[in-house]
Amino acid sequence: AEQGWPELHRIPHPPRRVPLLGDVLGASRTRPLQDSVRHARRLGPIFRRKAFNKEFVFVWGGALSADLADETRFAKHVGLGIANLRPVVGDALFTAYNHEPNWQLAHDVLAPGFSREAMEGYHAMMLDVAGRLTGHWDRAALAGRTVDVPGDMTKLTLETIARTGFGHDFGSFERSRPHPFVTAMVGTLAHAQRLNTVPAAFLLRASARRNEADIAYLNRTVDDLVRERRRGSGGEGDLLDRMLRTAHPETGERLSPENVRRQVITFLVAGHETTSGALSFALYYLARHPDVAARARAEVDRVWGDAELPGYDQVAKLRYVRRVLDESLRLWPTAPAFAREAREDTVLAGDHPMRRGAWALVLTPMLHRDPEVWGADAERFDPDRFDPKAVRSRAPHTFKPFGTGARACIGRQFALHEATLVLGLLLRRYALRPDPDYRLRVTERLTLMPDGLRLGVDRRTGAV
Ligand code: HEM
Repeated sequence: AEQGWPELHRIPHPPRRVPLLGDVLGASRTRPLQDSVRHARRLGPIFRRKAFNKEFVFVWGGALSADLADETRFAKHVGLGIANLRPVVGDALFTAYNHEPNWQLAHDVLAPGFSREAMEGYHAMMLDVAGRLTGHWDRAALAGRTVDVPGDMTKLTLETIARTGFGHDFGSFERSRPHPFVTAMVGTLAHAQRLNTVPAAFLLRASARRNEADIAYLNRTVDDLVRERRRGSGGEGDLLDRMLRTAHPETGERLSPENVRRQVITFLVAGHETTSGALSFALYYLARHPDVAARARAEVDRVWGDAELPGYDQVAKLRYVRRVLDESLRLWPTAPAFAREAREDTVLAGDHPMRRGAWALVLTPMLHRDPEVWGADAERFDPDRFDPKAVRSRAPHTFKPFGTGARACIGRQFALHEATLVLGLLLRRYALRPDPDYRLRVTERLTLMPDGLRLGVDRRTGAV
């Protein structure tokens, strides 16, 4: 019985070519996810790949994935890419093992920071940051320059989480080069990503040393931020405020200073790249589908009227814009996989025995394209798949851009509010001009992003 899958031999795999590194490296080391997607199409709803002499099981079929969502038999598995982040963020929310007490503590303390009331509190700050983006795009429009969509969305989402979470301003829109904190953050993520495809022993010592310096810089910056906050006041009700001042409602326990530092870094990382990618893909599709853009724009004009800035509720009412976002996250879920492990010996979907602790990766981009769930035209962009009637008629647990169960994304409502708000503002203010020669290329760091996407933007006449 190999690695907890007694009948592993029944799970198909690609032809084995590279003896040591196996087939995970396969055709593409920089795009392992898209490489897995290619294998998935040939091998079917469950398959395996080998790397470093280990077997990795991938699942994407609707029925198998839905079974993995059963929380009584399965739970999040912290392995692979996530475990590689532990030197940076330890037992903070995203990287905690299920049994670590700090997970429940932080979850209970921070969940109210993502309630509707909390979100209403962030709304004005989100608008403020979005205003910096439109200021930047206005200047591009005036000068007839195209805009760097993923670059600008990353600035926007980083500033949004820094501001709403911690009252911090990285000045991204005013800088010509990224803030050193961002460089260090990207450096540690890239290092963790390399560890996924190259064994640690093969990495250069210089790279490991660089990584340690990056982590030290991240820690120092966050510690300064926390010290400042502890000294002064301010930040009422933001995430940092909750981390520092809230005690657990039942046990009275608080987050330790080291844990606060890990949570702050976690939220800065988890809170921006994924949302930035989601916005970028949505803008890609809006620019490519003028009919969809027109419908979305008409909704914004109708719901927002001539209010200069939308209120909280006016964002929630953008139902069609939200469908555009959902449909973009269907085709390109920007956190493209999550891992599930068996809590006890069990049989996956009545067919594949698993021992306790055995695990599989759910390949969301393929789950979201399973023709048995989404139909023969699953590859086609169509926001109407998310109108309420269509959603009701679909099997549950087949749309999972935010993961599943107790360890699903705590920032889901935050991301959706921010992204819907920004898409609304951009649709209302600009006409989007795609570059007819652009072909979608997707880059992979920890998250997916449309590589090199630039758009022309023209101010709409008469727009507020
Ligand atoms: C967890 C996706 C935005 C914070 C997750 C997971 C996914 C995900 C798939 C589960 C990972 C797993 O099972 O291993 C996304 C996507 C986003 C987004 C696609 C945007 C479109 C955000 C934002 C924040 C955030 C804005 C914070 C403000 C977190 C945290 C966790 C998490 C802290 C760990 C939760 C836990 O284990 O308790 N996210 N996320 N995410 N996300 Fe997000």
